[in-house]
Amino acid sequence: MNKFLKFIALGTAASLMALSLAACTSGDQNSSTGSTGPNDSGSASLDLVSEGTLIMGTNAEFPPFEYQENGEVVGVDAALMGAIAEKLGLQLEIKDMAFESLSEALSGGTIDIIAAGFTIDPKREETMDFTNTYFTAKQTILVRSDSGFASKADLEDKKIGGQTGTTGLSCAEELTAKENIKGYNNGSLAVDDLLNGNLDAVIIDNNPANEYKNQHGDELTLITDQFEEEEYAMAVKKGNKSLLDAVNKALDEIKADGTFDEIVAQYIK
Ligand code: ARG
Repeated sequence: MNKFLKFIALGTAASLMALSLAACTSGDQNSSTGSTGPNDSGSASLDLVSEGTLIMGTNAEFPPFEYQENGEVVGVDAALMGAIAEKLGLQLEIKDMAFESLSEALSGGTIDIIAAGFTIDPKREETMDFTNTYFTAKQTILVRSDSGFASKADLEDKKIGGQTGTTGLSCAEELTAKENIKGYNNGSLAVDDLLNGNLDAVIIDNNPANEYKNQHGDELTLITDQFEEEEYAMAVKKGNKSLLDAVNKALDEIKADGTFDEIVAQYIK
């Protein structure tokens, strides 16, 4: 079938910059990236890092979308990609890495697809192609319950933490100066520093925020509905249209046959 252009990856520095500048998503997200054409081609015609295998890159520190359990990556994204790979007749392989390394792994050709509760963002769209969306999320602010903070306005010039490279940290930039913002390898470490008193707030997606609230109970309070909605999608290497179309088609199929809803219900109560 159609061969496509191999795009020369933009400079790594540029793509990392793009990630760190990712907007605290404001409106206009172009979420539905055109639907699939007919694609009955078997997996042999897909442009993959390794034939017969779909290599998913993720950062498994983001429950309930991806986390480690008994040495295995599980969660909504792992299960969705498992179902999608099955539809495509491919083996799924999951590579767990730092969140901020995902974009480089994709353009550098060590993974086929990012599935990581990954928000569609105009900056990211410059270096990768997003599938159709599959989940709507919102950034949530976590504070200590004794802090008295109740809205984002209370966090002006306060110390805010979050996971490096995420949209949550872009939201933090709206509220406080860069020197007051601290990036962590994962959300859990940021929450530890919040409980230690080293931070005034953590900004993270609503579902992991709920998980942290469940873990720490009354010590933590969630401040919700402060930011725009975000849309999650998977991302493939820029120009990899055959894989993009195939994944969109499989995503449609698992939505139509009930698999998608089952997976979400399994991990999000
Ligand atoms: N939705 C946020 C973003 O795209 C956070 C994603 C973090 N995902 C993860 N697997 N750690 O920036």
